[in-house]
Amino acid sequence: MLAPASVSDYRELAKRRLPQLMFDYLDGGAFEEATLQANRLDLQKLSLKQKVLRDVSSLDTSVTLFGQKMELPLILAPVGFAGMMARRAEVQAAKAAQTVGIPFTLSTVGICPIEEVRRAVTTPFWFQLYMMRDRGVVREILSRAQAAQCGALVFTVDLPVLGTRYRDIRNGMGVKLPLFSRLRMAANFASRPSWIYDVGVKGQPLTFGNLAGVVQDAKSLGALLHWTTTALDPSVTWKDLEWIRSIWKGPLILKGVLDADDAKEAAATGADGLVVSNHGGRQLDAARSSISMLPRIVDAVGDRTVVLMDGGIRSGQDVTRALALGARACLIGRAWVYGVAAKGEAGVVSVLETMKRELRTSMALIGASRIGDINRAVIES
Ligand code: FNR
Repeated sequence: MLAPASVSDYRELAKRRLPQLMFDYLDGGAFEEATLQANRLDLQKLSLKQKVLRDVSSLDTSVTLFGQKMELPLILAPVGFAGMMARRAEVQAAKAAQTVGIPFTLSTVGICPIEEVRRAVTTPFWFQLYMMRDRGVVREILSRAQAAQCGALVFTVDLPVLGTRYRDIRNGMGVKLPLFSRLRMAANFASRPSWIYDVGVKGQPLTFGNLAGVVQDAKSLGALLHWTTTALDPSVTWKDLEWIRSIWKGPLILKGVLDADDAKEAAATGADGLVVSNHGGRQLDAARSSISMLPRIVDAVGDRTVVLMDGGIRSGQDVTRALALGARACLIGRAWVYGVAAKGEAGVVSVLETMKRELRTSMALIGASRIGDINRAVIES
């Protein structure tokens, strides 16, 4: 490949650069990966209506959400362990997002701590929270996010337990492999020297930066993942959302809603926004795709809360499809991580510029000059 042209080209570059275990962790989904696939397939099924002879000489892709202006209706989704895919990847991505003029969301289980990201940028980034059993730790982390002036809190609620990911099991994550398999794995890591230098040497320390002192003795991806399964609180309920609402001062966004009644409850509990999401097909396999559930959730709460969506967004055409069905903006997970794994900060900028070009072209060809012009009428029935 001479030059990457699309997000799937960046996926290919990431695949070449990452050890197989890392790539599979990033790329894979839960169980049979049916929901992972549905996220993509259901987007692809939506046809856009080609319209002609509208003046599209001036296009504006910007939106304002939660009082924040964004140059694109896109947000970088929280991705745990991103710093295992490229050196201090969370910092690189936050800088790229700032360059392009959109928010970056830092995961609770990111490699870089809140303060390191804060020092790297001047515009606010968002913070994502997983509810941990120890509420003192939660309170402490929220006060650090508040001190870093994070622009929004994304409270992820679709991971009371960790979805089983067959690829990770096959790659021996968290299980003891026989010697021969371990040697094969070591040989695969050895075949990726640029990753070893970038992440293994220059990307240290490789631990959960936000949870230093809380996570002990977690020295591998498998060990960190195991810690996640023990520290996160499966007893979390709507009462906890009320509690978070009472202590978080800024915009609060509930991530992982896939049901209209849950969306109504979220709006009633005071969430300023929600993300229609199935965690990129990594949790409940056999759940419906995000895009297929979006319209009914928008119909249920779209006038009361800001509805965002993620899952399968890989192009500006996909963004157009999601906006047409009522999303105010999309989050992208794997797309930005492919970019950072392939080419660092410049790779994320390039992924975002690519999606921006695609969005602008799609807007011109459906006759929409502004984001507000994209509505259900642009979908071909
Ligand atoms: C995630 N996602 C996620 N979500 C979250 O709230 N906190 C997290 O730490 C993570 N970690 C994570 C790791 C990896 C490797 C992936 C791929 C995803 C889910 C993420 O925020 C988002 O919902 C999905 O990635 C969206 O789907 P796409 O864009 O990847 O198809």
